[in-house]
Amino acid sequence: MKASSLFDVSDLVTVVTGGASGIGLAYAEAMADNGASVTIFDLDQRRLDAEAKRIGAQRVLVDVTDRNALHRAFDETVQKHRRLDVVFANAGIGGGPGFLALDGTRNVGRAFEALDPDYWDRIFKLDVEALFSTLQAAAKHMKTGKGGRIIVTTSISAVKTETVVGAPYVAAKAAAAHLVRQAALELAEYDILVNAIAPGPFVTNISGGRLQDKEVQAALAKHCPLKRLGHTDDIQGLALFLASPASKYMTGASLTVDGGTTLGSLE
Ligand SMILES: NC(=O)c1ccc[n+]([C@@H]2O[C@H](COP(=O)([O-])OP(=O)(O)OC[C@H]3O[C@@H](n4cnc5c(N)ncnc54)[C@H](O)[C@@H]3O)[C@@H](O)[C@H]2O)c1
Repeated sequence: MKASSLFDVSDLVTVVTGGASGIGLAYAEAMADNGASVTIFDLDQRRLDAEAKRIGAQRVLVDVTDRNALHRAFDETVQKHRRLDVVFANAGIGGGPGFLALDGTRNVGRAFEALDPDYWDRIFKLDVEALFSTLQAAAKHMKTGKGGRIIVTTSISAVKTETVVGAPYVAAKAAAAHLVRQAALELAEYDILVNAIAPGPFVTNISGGRLQDKEVQAALAKHCPLKRLGHTDDIQGLALFLASPASKYMTGASLTVDGGTTLGSLE
């Protein structure tokens, strides 16, 4: 089997939520560069216009937490392309800071009992509720076709405790990870494969670009056996793998890409 057929994503009708920046943009670019027809759903008009144009993708300005608008965006995309093959459910917001600052001292304002309930609501609305709506919309359209692939960006925070991101983020990503398994079980009969990509810290625009700060990077890299944060090109191979025939017997899996962070620190 040639790698070119094994990883063939050409002509696949693909939607990437939160695809105007960071990890989602890397997925969108990997798919578009390899011949897929990509539509980015995002609420950041400026980045959406610039990046979609740059990579040759189509764009829909939508807040994925608006259930009706999200379903409309999927309906219109499918109407236009006549099918839906791949969905990257990726839109998300950051969960930091956590209860410890980078120097290990306590962040009093981010103590468990001090957390703003609105913060819990914001995170759950996007990382869990909007994910559920995205899975529903994707399943509805894929069931009427020849199946499809749904790839959800979770996080290593789904399986490990964190000091630098808050409890709501950790809980929401754990919920997202389990939702992936439940959806995978139910949708297998329709040849809809549902898998997760679980990144460790990646340099993106998340949390106002906090991970672009060199001091933050150095502090977080200490906990990573590969001694650096992820860059968005470190995740593109997984996107192609999970969208292509190479992973046709995989569903309900979670693939970690974290430079070894979940193995534990060498220090
Ligand atoms: N960067 C990391 O370290 C890291 C680690 C683990 C998991 N993740 C996850 O990766 C995913 C992508 O994050 P990123 O780091 O690329 O961040 P990012 O901020 O660079 O990109 C997120 C994109 O999602 C869009 N978005 C946010 N809310 C939206 C909404 N309601 N509707 C539509 N679009 C929306 C933003 O406009 C942005 O374009 C998130 O689910 C995040 O939790 C990131």
